[in-house]
Amino acid sequence: LVLILDYGSQYTHLITRRIRQLSVLSLCLAGDAPLASISSLRPRAVILSGGPHSVHLPNAPSFPDSFLEFVEQNGIPVLGICYGMQLLVQKLGGEVSVGEKQEYGKMEIDVVRESGLFGAELVGKHQTVWMSHGDEAARLPEGFEVVARSVQGLVAAIENPSKRLYGLQYHPEVTHSAQGMETLRHFIFNVCGITADWKMQDVLEEEIKVIKDMVGPDEHVICALSGGVDSTVAATLVHKAIGDRLHCVFVDNGLLRYKERERVMATFESDLHLPVTCVDAVEQFLSKLKGVKDPEAKRKIIGREFICVFDDFAHDLEMKLGQKPKYLVQGTLYPDVIESCPPPGSGRSHSHTIKSHHNVGGLPKDMKLKLIEPLKLLFKDEVRKLGSILNVPESFLKRHPFPGPGLAVRVLGDVTEGNALDILRQVDEIFIQSIKEAGLYDSIWQAFAVFLPVQSVGVQGDQRTHSHVVVLRAITSEDGMTADWYYFDQNFLVDVVRKICNSVRGVNRVCQDITSKPPATVEWE
Ligand code: XMP
Repeated sequence: LVLILDYGSQYTHLITRRIRQLSVLSLCLAGDAPLASISSLRPRAVILSGGPHSVHLPNAPSFPDSFLEFVEQNGIPVLGICYGMQLLVQKLGGEVSVGEKQEYGKMEIDVVRESGLFGAELVGKHQTVWMSHGDEAARLPEGFEVVARSVQGLVAAIENPSKRLYGLQYHPEVTHSAQGMETLRHFIFNVCGITADWKMQDVLEEEIKVIKDMVGPDEHVICALSGGVDSTVAATLVHKAIGDRLHCVFVDNGLLRYKERERVMATFESDLHLPVTCVDAVEQFLSKLKGVKDPEAKRKIIGREFICVFDDFAHDLEMKLGQKPKYLVQGTLYPDVIESCPPPGSGRSHSHTIKSHHNVGGLPKDMKLKLIEPLKLLFKDEVRKLGSILNVPESFLKRHPFPGPGLAVRVLGDVTEGNALDILRQVDEIFIQSIKEAGLYDSIWQAFAVFLPVQSVGVQGDQRTHSHVVVLRAITSEDGMTADWYYFDQNFLVDVVRKICNSVRGVNRVCQDITSKPPATVEWE
């Protein structure tokens, strides 16, 4: 296991993922995690991440006291990246100064000697790296040597091989650092001697064993399926472990996409053989949403109704089984776990609520269910790999994300007014099918249509019309936190707009949303 100590860099997740791409398990802890937490993971190597701070600030985050003694006594190699390297330099008695020459963006460095970070073939050669720092290592601690310098002459890489301590001033984890992955590979395999043996098949077998050990032979487990990748893969894995003692529920809340209920139920039942009950709660949700225009009020109502449906499902199950289910499966992913314990000084714990997010299956407060979260150490692409081993159809694994509150956040205002939901479903289906036919689906992170509660004047077949306006939105993104709008070919757009206006009654105008996030959000409400 490679442990990453996080000092708030925007690239910390990326370091974790890069190490995993080398088939080595890596986990992340807050940069000031207690020594007991660090040692309990028994890391074979520690990487100190970058971060936005300066080591000179009074509250600059740092590893716990005795960390350096701990790694030395246990012979654990440490690699400091950017802020992490400066931390090593400062704590070991060197000097970090506020640099006169700041280095941001792509830079050239020269490798000056062979080391644990660079093979002999790289010595004397230039390589392009991604720098992002103001401070610099002005004097190295005793026992350290410079192994690379930037073309400006600043220290770019250091090592103290006898103490197994290493530092990189640049970010090897970003793709702009051309040989970055090679450098990480060198560190993990040559310096640390770690074996590449972390495989998704092993993760699957290990998780199945954990679940089998945890859930007693007569105990039952429930799971809310949203139709998304995470809950589906989590449920499929648990089903493999305990069979039909898993009981899933899928809620049709009237806010689903075109034929979504039929499509996902077919995957659950025919492809995955999951024991799933489909609850028709269309009336229940739509009657509660009638007349509600405020986006947050809509989200809260939907969250509450999900919990009611889920509660009823659990209660019915208890009647049928003669005992209460004990466990709840959730498709929590690793980024959610990391986000919920933010690194020191990141300010993430004080972030504003932009929108109340609801995932299906929010836990009713008085229900004492224990959680089973088989994906909680995985990133999204790893969940897809796991899903593929579990025979979840590829087309399903590649589906764009869909928000818990469904089309309610895409029909602005009152969702029950007129036939807004019906119009939106048709427009959305034409847009998505056109994207698939053009072979663009996998290059777009998320695409959908939005219904505006306004009418505009048009002319169709020589007749004046007064009909609805819809908006098409397609974005590219890494994780939905920031996004760019997707640039379609003009002919594609012409064709989609023609199809929509010709076949969806009640629409005479189509717009495209070309706003990034920020300043907009992905969804319109
Ligand atoms: P926003 O609109 O917040 O969306 O920029 C970012 C990503 O999150 C999805 N989203 C949700 N997902 N429950 C979810 O499970 C929600 O309440 C929710 N709201 C937005 C959105 O589709 C996008 O992928």
